[in-house]
Amino acid sequence: MTTDTTHSIEAIRKEWGTRLLILGHHYQSPAVLAHADVTGDSLELARMAAASQAARIVFCGVHFMAESADILTTPAQQVFMPEPGAGCPMATMADDYQVEKAWSFLKRQGDDWLPVVYVNSTARIKAFCGRTGGSACTSSNAPRIFKWALDQGKKVFFLPDIHLGLNSAHDLGIPDEQTAIYDYQKPDGGLTPEALKDVRVLVWGGYCPIHVNFTVADVQAARQNWPDAKIIVHPETPKEIVRMVDAHGSTAQIIHYVQAAPDGSTLVIGTESQLVKRLAEVHKNRLTIKMLKGSFCPNMAKTNQQNLLRILKDWPDRNQVKVPSALIPDAKLCLERMLAL
Ligand code: 13P
Ligand code: SF4
Repeated sequence: MTTDTTHSIEAIRKEWGTRLLILGHHYQSPAVLAHADVTGDSLELARMAAASQAARIVFCGVHFMAESADILTTPAQQVFMPEPGAGCPMATMADDYQVEKAWSFLKRQGDDWLPVVYVNSTARIKAFCGRTGGSACTSSNAPRIFKWALDQGKKVFFLPDIHLGLNSAHDLGIPDEQTAIYDYQKPDGGLTPEALKDVRVLVWGGYCPIHVNFTVADVQAARQNWPDAKIIVHPETPKEIVRMVDAHGSTAQIIHYVQAAPDGSTLVIGTESQLVKRLAEVHKNRLTIKMLKGSFCPNMAKTNQQNLLRILKDWPDRNQVKVPSALIPDAKLCLERMLAL
């Protein structure tokens, strides 16, 4: 951590006071999080953005998170990213053309579907979801949002993360036979009307490259190396692994699990490495924390103290995240339905 940079950032924060809000996702480095007003998971940060009165919000995370902040704030508030090229590859795995095509296919089958969209998606997909009566979700509330849709007698069309979709259905006790995968690279998702008949949850075939790194063999090795350890993973991890481990949850839920662990225990964590490293350091006098496997998100790592200071000094236009105004009303509906549930 360069002290000059740290001091310069803090001096600008002091000068701006409450007119500036810096939000930091749990996967950011400790050097960046040291300057955040709030650190949280996707849900907590969306809530903070929605409640904020700050004139400028700086989002240290990835692009879809900053887009959600822009959607949830007023037109007078501005949202910036230290590095706007920090995207989430999963969010680009569902484009609106493909999704509209899938939606008309589902409507043609005559069943009553409701979309549920993971916040790791573009503003266009959120607008589609808002327009068609659906809701957003995050990894900490996905089963609750699925239940909201199912309780209305609807079938859930979930996108874009195949794994969060299948894990959330399983959390609600929905058998695998009542789930199916929409393969967006195939006509009609590779599905026939017959195959959809008993399906209650249909999931898009997107994924997080960081969390699909974890394998059954990694869990077996961890059990052998640390037989008394509890293992917890993020629900973007494939279902075979989630079903073998002790717990799963969003980044905030993983942090709470660690905080609640008895002194002297060993935990193995399967999520982005930056967070696991930080937890191991914070709790080193009380717990032994191991990585299920190293898996860095290169996009989360694009934000650093240098580019944070650069925007705070110059506020370049290219760093402002601005969702087209035509998309805002529907995308806002999609996010606000989630925040209200
Ligand atoms: P959380 O909502 O759990 O923080 O997850 C965001 C994310 O991108 C996980 O890969
Ligand atoms: Fe996207 Fe995965 Fe990185 Fe999260 S960890 S931002 S889902 S690529």
